[in-house]
Amino acid sequence: MSGETEIAARVAEAKQAAEAKKGGAGQTGKAKRKRARPFPFKVEDGQVWRKVETEGQDGTTGARWVAFGSEVNILARTRTTEGEDHGRLLEVVDGDGVRHSWAMPAALLAGTGETIRAELLRLGFMPVPSAGRKWRDWLFEYLISAEPEARARCVSSIGWHGAAYVFPDETISAVASTDLVLLQSGEKLEHALNVAGTLDDWRSTVAALALGNSRLVLALSAAFAAPLLALTGEDGGGFHFRGGSSTGKSTALAVAGSVWGGGGMRGYVQSWRTTDNALEALAAMHKDACLCLDELSQVESKAAGAAAYMLGNGVGKARAGREGQARKSHEWRLLFLSSGEMGLADKIRESGGRIAAGMEVRVIDLRGDAGAALGLFEDIHGAANAAIFAQSLKAAVGRSYGTPARAFLRQIVADPAAAQDGIAKLRRGFVEAALPPSADGQVRRVADRFALVAAAGEIASSLGITGWPEGTAAEAVLRCFRDYLSERGGSGAGEVADARARIRQAVEVDGHSRFVSWQPDSRRAVITKALGYVQRDDNEMSDAPPVFYLHASGMRELLAGLDLKSVLEALADLGVIVRHEAVQKGAKVRVLYKLFRVPSEKTPLRLYQLNHAALMGEEGGPDA
Ligand SMILES: Nc1ncnc2c1ncn2[C@@H]1O[C@H](COP(=O)(O)OP(=O)(O)OP(=O)(O)O)[C@@H](O)[C@H]1O
Ligand SMILES: [Mg+2]
Repeated sequence: MSGETEIAARVAEAKQAAEAKKGGAGQTGKAKRKRARPFPFKVEDGQVWRKVETEGQDGTTGARWVAFGSEVNILARTRTTEGEDHGRLLEVVDGDGVRHSWAMPAALLAGTGETIRAELLRLGFMPVPSAGRKWRDWLFEYLISAEPEARARCVSSIGWHGAAYVFPDETISAVASTDLVLLQSGEKLEHALNVAGTLDDWRSTVAALALGNSRLVLALSAAFAAPLLALTGEDGGGFHFRGGSSTGKSTALAVAGSVWGGGGMRGYVQSWRTTDNALEALAAMHKDACLCLDELSQVESKAAGAAAYMLGNGVGKARAGREGQARKSHEWRLLFLSSGEMGLADKIRESGGRIAAGMEVRVIDLRGDAGAALGLFEDIHGAANAAIFAQSLKAAVGRSYGTPARAFLRQIVADPAAAQDGIAKLRRGFVEAALPPSADGQVRRVADRFALVAAAGEIASSLGITGWPEGTAAEAVLRCFRDYLSERGGSGAGEVADARARIRQAVEVDGHSRFVSWQPDSRRAVITKALGYVQRDDNEMSDAPPVFYLHASGMRELLAGLDLKSVLEALADLGVIVRHEAVQKGAKVRVLYKLFRVPSEKTPLRLYQLNHAALMGEEGGPDA
């Protein structure tokens, strides 16, 4: 931890107040006045003492003080904003004189107190041997009878709580805020929001190497964008880097993760390989932060779809408590970065899963390869090769991490309104520069996601966190956005491009196996699961293209998961589906399908007719 944290400062304050009132730790003047019986505990000489009544041989009563354990101070009462989940803020001083604070949920007092004793011992509390077994009862009594005057608001998750941003060991809030906010939990939280090295180290060994590398700058900027989602009030989402093995994907995630934390065996980056429940807990643990999920290949495609949806959606499954009562489900808003050899969308489709249009806007697939023959990288800053560059980056993020997010948030918290203005302005500028005038709504929304990331990177730079020159983040993110657009094949709605690709693939791959010949054909193969019909010119010399027809169920199968009606209309606008004249209710209309007499069938059939050139052609073909 760098410097004195706010909690530590407040703890010191509370203690001073308590001492000033000479009530002993956990006992204030006011509480003492209220109480008829005197408070039989005191903290002195690094120990907690219990006053014990004694009876002399002559029948006179007296009292003596017995020490039963090492120093534990009861600093504040804690509760949530709703006035629930009451507890106590405790401070344990361990054998090395290090002070540990723990927000103890009062609910733990319901049992025998074993959990409390175990946690206090874990933090360094030591009973005094001469107190024998009495220390347990006395400790329990001490905890329930102390009435500290100081109040703190406790929360059960990290991230934003009002104007304060809560880390497991530190709360970042503007000086003016009144209530101390802290994380309260029954057990130790598994998290990697650790800090190592100084911000200067990080800036010169990590951020500096990202310069000139659009993907790394994007990844870092996205890490800073995560806590800004709450400020702009928008949904969570993510970016997925797709690319071959050993191209620097995991390295990019580790670089982004270093903004937030690291350490332990595995560092900050998590694996896609988790159960739903574990992923939910992970998401909750990364609320308002950046979650890095590596190696998409380790999860099944079905699970990947559900997971991506869940991460973007921001709420976990409804859960039942032990008695079957409804428990609050996990909630989060986060930005995730992911990597895999396959695109996330392709992965989801692999199992026939569908991508809701809303998700396509929030979870963005990006080609990892930056096109400089260096994998994800473009500038390796003089390293002998890209592999060595990747290794040195990984080593650097193993040494310095966690400081950037905290330094960033300290400044955001000090003036959130300025941050909001800055984001809005930078975003507008980005979207103006990035969007072709013809862009449709979906592309606009994707551009806006990239814009938030660009703005976050620029703000982090202007606050002196990254050390990058002005414009670096915006330029790099713009570069990534352009790559994204060019891959997407123009800026028509993604669903339409997707639909066309699926039909094209069916015609190319299954043109012979799943389309029944238009003319009766004695040699024709048995076709199962037909999608429709194909009319081919019998003349071997003819180069007239075949005409494909799809029946409604074939079309539905191919376009599963898409909004059929609007996609079909859009395909007809592109000329891929041929419109026909028809008369409905006495008026002439143009319809998408009609009744055809297929020579090889007895009854007329309702079919969609495809325009082969438009389907196969570049960008909508001749009719587009
Ligand atoms: N752009 C690159 N060009 C060549 N080698 C690289 C590149 N990036 C990384 N490597 C090598 O691959 C190793 C692993 O890097 P990293 O974990 O970032 O790759 P990855 O893209 O995640 O690969 P995988 O798909 O196998 O997980 C590095 O230690 C380095 O030796
Ligand atoms: Mg990897």
